[in-house]
Amino acid sequence: MTLDLFEPDAPSLEPLEPGAMVLRRFACRHETALLAAVQGVIEQAPLRFLVTPGGFRMSVAMTNCGALGWVSDRTGYRYDAIDPDSGRRWPRMPDAFLLLAAEAAAAAGFEGFVPDACLVNRYAPGTRLSLHQDRNERDFGQPIVSVSLGLPAVFLFGGAQRDDKARRVPLAHGDVVVWGGPARLRFHGVLPVKEGEHPLLGGCRLNLTFRRAG
Ligand code: SIN
Ligand code: FE2
Repeated sequence: MTLDLFEPDAPSLEPLEPGAMVLRRFACRHETALLAAVQGVIEQAPLRFLVTPGGFRMSVAMTNCGALGWVSDRTGYRYDAIDPDSGRRWPRMPDAFLLLAAEAAAAAGFEGFVPDACLVNRYAPGTRLSLHQDRNERDFGQPIVSVSLGLPAVFLFGGAQRDDKARRVPLAHGDVVVWGGPARLRFHGVLPVKEGEHPLLGGCRLNLTFRRAG
């Protein structure tokens, strides 16, 4: 057993509020497997810019893996078993993803989390995600597990209403945010990502969001 003192990269838990927690550096020890798995997903289902129901092209590039994928188009937001770009099923969820998501959820107090959807978001510098709730999933008893890789970003963690004041939570490579229970329907978003160069990912931030959607 080594003391944290001698392990600057050891994960640490940072409660945000009831039901929500930041697991600092939690994904770091999985980073090689995660990045290889992301690459495999993107080869089968390339990142693309979705259109909002209002007709705007999103600035964050997205794709999915798992039984269900989150999609947006002029008709609305939904989960779909089929990638609309290819007409095929989304790539299967890599084992490294399933393992990390379950471990992170359990560390935050949500045992038995088995995601069936993973949204992959790629942020170029200058891109952001405006405040929203994750509410297309069937069972709000299941948490959201959100993994940050690459460039840092400021995560906004708001309240139950869109105009409630949002906390600014700096997130770095390997940090995982889990929210569920009383925090499950919180508004959240990401401030514009700053220019930078990450040793593994170069000039971008990747986010993996795991959900039990169906
Ligand atoms: C999301 O809300 O889907 C993504 C959040 C993030 O990129 O940290
Ligand atoms: Fe979200």
